[in-house]
Amino acid sequence: MNYSCIICGFTIILAFSSVSILAQQPYFGAGTNACSSQDNSTSAFGYFCNGVNRTCQSYLTFRSQPPFNTVSSISSLLGADPLQLSQLNSVSRNATFDTNQMVLVPVTCSCSGQFYQSNTSYVIRKDDTFLTIAMSTLQGLSTCHAINAENNDQANNLVIGSRINVPLRCACPTKNQTDDGTKYLLTYLVASGEFVAFISDKFGVDFRETLAANTPLSENAPTILANTTLLVPLLNQPSSSQVAGPAPPPPPSTTATPPVVPVSDNNSKKTWLYVVAGVVGGLVGLSLLGVVIFFLCFRKRQKKADPQFASESFEAVEKPSNKKIEEESEELLESLSSIAQSVKVYKFEEVKAATDNFSPTCLIKGSVYRGRINGDFAAIKKMSGDVSKEINLLTKINHFNLISLSGICFHDGHWYLVYEYASNGPLSDWICHHNGDQKSLSWTQRVQISLDVATGLNYLHSYTSPPHVHKDLNGSNILLDGDLRAKIANFGLARSADGQEGEFALTRHIVGTQGYMAPEYLENGLISPKLDVYAFGVLLLEILTGKEVSALYEGSSTNLAEVLIPVLHDEDAKENLSNFIDPSLQGKYPAELAIAMARLINNCIMKDPSHRASTDEIVQSLSRIMTATHSWEKSFSTSGSPHRLP
Ligand SMILES: *[C@@H]1O[C@H](CO)[C@@H](O)[C@H](O)[C@H]1NC(C)=O
Ligand SMILES: *[C@@H]1O[C@H](CO)[C@@H](O)[C@H](O)[C@H]1NC(C)=O
Ligand SMILES: *[C@@H]1O[C@H](CO)[C@@H](O)[C@H](O)[C@H]1NC(C)=O
Ligand SMILES: *[C@@H]1O[C@H](CO)[C@@H](O)[C@H](O)[C@H]1NC(C)=O
Ligand SMILES: *[C@@H]1O[C@H](CO)[C@@H](O)[C@H](O)[C@H]1NC(C)=O
Ligand SMILES: *[C@@H]1O[C@H](CO)[C@@H](O)[C@H](O)[C@H]1NC(C)=O
Repeated sequence: MNYSCIICGFTIILAFSSVSILAQQPYFGAGTNACSSQDNSTSAFGYFCNGVNRTCQSYLTFRSQPPFNTVSSISSLLGADPLQLSQLNSVSRNATFDTNQMVLVPVTCSCSGQFYQSNTSYVIRKDDTFLTIAMSTLQGLSTCHAINAENNDQANNLVIGSRINVPLRCACPTKNQTDDGTKYLLTYLVASGEFVAFISDKFGVDFRETLAANTPLSENAPTILANTTLLVPLLNQPSSSQVAGPAPPPPPSTTATPPVVPVSDNNSKKTWLYVVAGVVGGLVGLSLLGVVIFFLCFRKRQKKADPQFASESFEAVEKPSNKKIEEESEELLESLSSIAQSVKVYKFEEVKAATDNFSPTCLIKGSVYRGRINGDFAAIKKMSGDVSKEINLLTKINHFNLISLSGICFHDGHWYLVYEYASNGPLSDWICHHNGDQKSLSWTQRVQISLDVATGLNYLHSYTSPPHVHKDLNGSNILLDGDLRAKIANFGLARSADGQEGEFALTRHIVGTQGYMAPEYLENGLISPKLDVYAFGVLLLEILTGKEVSALYEGSSTNLAEVLIPVLHDEDAKENLSNFIDPSLQGKYPAELAIAMARLINNCIMKDPSHRASTDEIVQSLSRIMTATHSWEKSFSTSGSPHRLP
C-alpha cells in the first residue's frame, strides 16, 4: 500500500459512509488534525448512533499521566463515577496510579444527535487548544472536531478557567455484535507500537472480532496508529487484571502526527505549529539519525565488506565541513529551534557535561557516547557534514519501532545528535553466539522482536509519505531497548520508493550489507520495498537459527531458500527442526510456530520480488504467531517448566 492508497482508502470510507452507518463503526485513524472540517461522514465527530440501544454502559481506557493520575482526577476529567472507577480498577478511592499505567474508566454512552458520546466537561488551562485537549490531555479519547462542534462559539477565544463540554468517544453494540454475545464496547486508546492482535489478546477477544468492529480494518490492513481509538467488543465487563502488567513504553519523544490531510484549521496558530513541530521533529530525527548510524555501521562494516560497496552517502557524511555548510547548519539549527518544539536544541556545555567531556568511559562505539541528560540515558553522536540533505529525504516518521531523536546541538562545525538510548544494544550481539556470549533470547522474545521490526518496516513502507525503503536492514541496525523491544535504526541509505515509474526505481550505486541484499538489487539495482522484505527474511532466518548470514550461506551456495528445505518440504520436517533452530532454544519452542516462521521466511526471500510477501502480510502473520505464542507460553509455564519471560 502506498500513500495514495491511504488517501483512496480514506475516500472509500467517505464514499460509503451511508454503508458504514449501517455497518460496524469506522476506525478513524487519519486526518485527526483538520479540526474545522465539517465532514460528518467519518467517525471524526464520534461513533455513529447505530447500536441496539441508544444508551449503554461502556468503558474507556486511559493512561495515567500527572496531573491526571489519581482516581479522583481521572474521574473528574472523564466524567466517570469515582467509586465505580476505583472498584473497576481494584484500587482504593484515594489511590494514585503509576505514570502510564492503563486505567479502565466506566462511562455511560448515549446518542446525541447522530453520534454516540459520553459527556464530560473540562476547564480551560493555559496554552490549551481544542487539538491539545483532544490529543494530549485526553490522549485521543475525543477529537478536536467533536469538541469544536459543541463549543463552536468559543473556538476562537478560549478563556482560561472557563468550562467547555467535551464529548468522549464511545459506542453501544450493534445488532450483529449483540447476536455474537458482545455486551460492551471498550474504547481502547492505542499506544504506539500496539497492534490489533495484541490488544484483543489482552481482553481475551478474537482479533478478527475486533477488526470487524472497526471498518475498514482487516487482516490484510490491520494497521492502527497511536492516539486513536479502537473499539474492542467485550463479552464481559473488563477487569483490572486485563490491563495490569508493566506500564507501556513511554511515547516517542517526537510528537505523534498521523499522516495524511493538511491542516485546514485557521483558528489557531498554535495548532498549526503543533503539527509542524511534529512533522519536522519526526523527519529531522530519523534523517539525522540515519546519517549517524550509517556512518557508524559503515565504519564497522568496512573491514569485512567488499570495496565495491563504497557509497555516495558515505562521502556526503565524511565531506569535511566547509564554511557554507556551517552557515547552512546554523540556519537550520535556528529554524529548528523556532519550530521544532519536540527536538530540543542543547547547548554544547550540556552535551559536554552529559558525556563527562566525552570521556572514554562514556564511549559506546566510534563517535557515539552514552550520556546522561536530566537523569535519562541518551546516545550522543558527534558528526560533521551536510545533514540538511538527509532532512529533505525523509518525511513524517515517528514510530515506536523506529529509533527517535530527542535533541540536537551544533558546535564548532560539528553536529551532536541526541537519541533515545537503546540499552540492550544491537540485535546482532544477541543472535550470533560465536563469541561464546551468554546473551540468549527466548522464543517469545524472538517473535516479539521480529514483529517489532516488521511493524516498523510496515510503517516505513506504507505510512510515510512518500513511502520509504530502508535499504540496509540487518542485525546491527536493529537496536534493543531495556525491555528487549526492537527499534530500527540507520536510515542513512533509506530512500523514497515512489520512483519515477510507479513502484520501482533504479540505481547504479549498489550499497548495503552483503548477504542481506536482494538478488534483483545486486543484479539490476532495482529498488522497491521488496528489497527490505528480502533483508527481513534473512534477518528472521538469523533470529531463528542463531547463525550469522555468512554461516547460513555455507553449503547452500547462492540460494538461501535451500536452508529451509529440510524443515518445509521434508517428511521429517519436525525432526529436522532441531538441527535448524538455534541450539540455545532446544526444547523451548513450539514446533508448529517454528515451521510457520520458516514458511514466512520462505515467502520473504523468494527470488522474484513480486512473489514476496508485503510487510502488511508479514505483520499479520507475525501477529498471529505472537498470539499463538502467548497461548503456548501459558500452557508451557503451567506444565511446570521454569521457562518464563522476565
Ligand atoms: C451481520 O451479520 C450478517 C450475518 O452474519 C452479515 O451478513 C452482515 O453483513 C452483518 N452486518 C454487518 C453490518 O456487519
Ligand atoms: C452531515 O451534515 C449535513 C449538514 O451539515 C447534514 O445535512 C447531514 O444530515 C449530516 N449527516 C450526514 C450523515 O451526512
Ligand atoms: C439494551 O437495553 C436493554 C433494556 O434496558 C437491556 O436489557 C440490554 O442489556 C441492553 N443491551 C445492551 C447491548 O446494552
Ligand atoms: C486512603 O484512605 C484510607 C481511609 O479512607 C486511609 O486509611 C489510607 O491511608 C489512604 N491511603 C492513602 C494512600 O492516602
Ligand atoms: C451530552 O451533551 C450533549 C450536548 O451538550 C447533550 O445534547 C446531551 O443530552 C448530553 N447527554 C447526556 C446523557 O447528558
Ligand atoms: C499521545 O498520547 C500520549 C499519552 O498516551 C501523549 O503524551 C501524547 O502527547 C499524545 N500525542 C499527541 C500527538 O498528542
